[in-house]
Amino acid sequence: MNLLPRPTSVTAGSGTFVFDHDLRIAAPPAWAAIARRLLTPGTGLDLLPADDGAFVISEADLPPEAYRLEVTPDKITISAADDRGVNWAIQTLRQLLPPAVLRPAPSTDDQAIDCVTIEDRPRFGWRGVMLDVGRHFMPLGDLFRFVDLLALHKYNTFQLHLTEDQGWRFESKKYPKLQRLGSWRTETKRHLDDHGDGTPHGGFYTQDQLRSLVRYAEQRGITIVPELEFPGHVLSLLTAYPELGNHPESGYQTATTFGIFPEVLNMTDDALTVVFDLYTELLEIFPSRYVHVGGDECPRTEWIGNPATERLAAERGLAGPEQLQRWFTERLRDWLAERGRQLVGWDEINDEGLLEGAVTMAWRNSSYGVAAAQGGGEVIMAPTSHTYFDYYPSDDHDEQYGIGGLVTTDRVYSLEPTDGIPAELHDRILGTQCQVWTEYMPTTRRVDYMLYPRACAHAEVAWSDPADRDWAEFSTRLAQHLIRLDAQGVNYRPEQGPHPWQQGGTGPLRRPDAHK
Ligand code: ACM
Repeated sequence: MNLLPRPTSVTAGSGTFVFDHDLRIAAPPAWAAIARRLLTPGTGLDLLPADDGAFVISEADLPPEAYRLEVTPDKITISAADDRGVNWAIQTLRQLLPPAVLRPAPSTDDQAIDCVTIEDRPRFGWRGVMLDVGRHFMPLGDLFRFVDLLALHKYNTFQLHLTEDQGWRFESKKYPKLQRLGSWRTETKRHLDDHGDGTPHGGFYTQDQLRSLVRYAEQRGITIVPELEFPGHVLSLLTAYPELGNHPESGYQTATTFGIFPEVLNMTDDALTVVFDLYTELLEIFPSRYVHVGGDECPRTEWIGNPATERLAAERGLAGPEQLQRWFTERLRDWLAERGRQLVGWDEINDEGLLEGAVTMAWRNSSYGVAAAQGGGEVIMAPTSHTYFDYYPSDDHDEQYGIGGLVTTDRVYSLEPTDGIPAELHDRILGTQCQVWTEYMPTTRRVDYMLYPRACAHAEVAWSDPADRDWAEFSTRLAQHLIRLDAQGVNYRPEQGPHPWQQGGTGPLRRPDAHK
């Protein structure tokens, strides 16, 4: 049946169930709404309510997000304990139907499905994808579509990386210069030898737009985890409010190149107030229990040897300015906890020892996650080695320019998030997340290419039982699943054959001399 991610158990029945325009749904109204939202556009069926409808959704005592789906010749029955379980059951139903129902207009194909019983539940509670809208702003409409595609793969977490050296994307009512000045850069250097494209780039999301994105995602089983990044990667913020930097006189400029910049936050009480003000605004928009604070790649060059910063560290009873980031992250962790939220940070948050009460996102490599789990911390496995989808998807010469590295789809599929962790600590691993850093992805089209089908493999690692993992079997299923992505108009990278970007598109090749 080519379901992806692979369900826990599938038992084929006999006969088919035919969808027709008389099909009625017997379900609690909120659950009927989930079914209509996901099925009506592609099937054209109204799925009106009726107590004796042949499509039944009912509550059952099942684990979070789990569902049971039974299809017989005269009935479809879904059981679940929560909204997410219903969402995932309907997503499975969409995959059982012909791929044409994934188009945004009603399909005229016969809509019949083979009878089957499916029992399904996720392996991990955190199945995430991170999108960096800082390096390249993605139009709001693209984010709604992004959510639709994550939901098809039963992802439940969308980390939105909202701030970067190259652009600030979160509207602040209290600090409006952030979006007025910090959301634009003068141009972009599109590869390392580039002199710059001479084209301004920018954009930000209003709070109202983000509120609607949050609601849209929530209706589809997805929590948006927002990230405002501190104390490094803040050039866009310093461009708007130079007084928050260590060298206000220096004339900060939102970055036009990529990398790690020495300019970081000056850890004064005033800066802390601004940070808390911004998080206060953020928390009003994003109800997520988890809030990502960044914390990676924060050089201390502006702090060490700087008399003002040395004094600040001493006043706070710290051994030296290199302790200031830890001091800051602890304040932020406690501030979030007082508001019922939990801090998530890149694994540098533990460089001065495990930060208790925080969730570690292990990115540099899995060993940072293993160490955090062994110390009793909660961990998301997000290692560059398997989950960095800015890395090249192949070593072909005709890939477009990217940041480096190599993460093929089969490599993604080989990720085992609990490797190196004793069985009694497996529950410390909340899940896994893939990352789309967009330095060299100016458009959604390019994001599609880098994300799919690698995310198809990653979604299965996050959802399915590892005992059944089999690359050859997955590849066959993936080939069929790609027909679904075709139906949705996804610019994925085919595992074989010409790459879609070669049929059009813009951007330098990986090796500019490849076609000489
Ligand atoms: C990261 O890639 N700097 C988290």
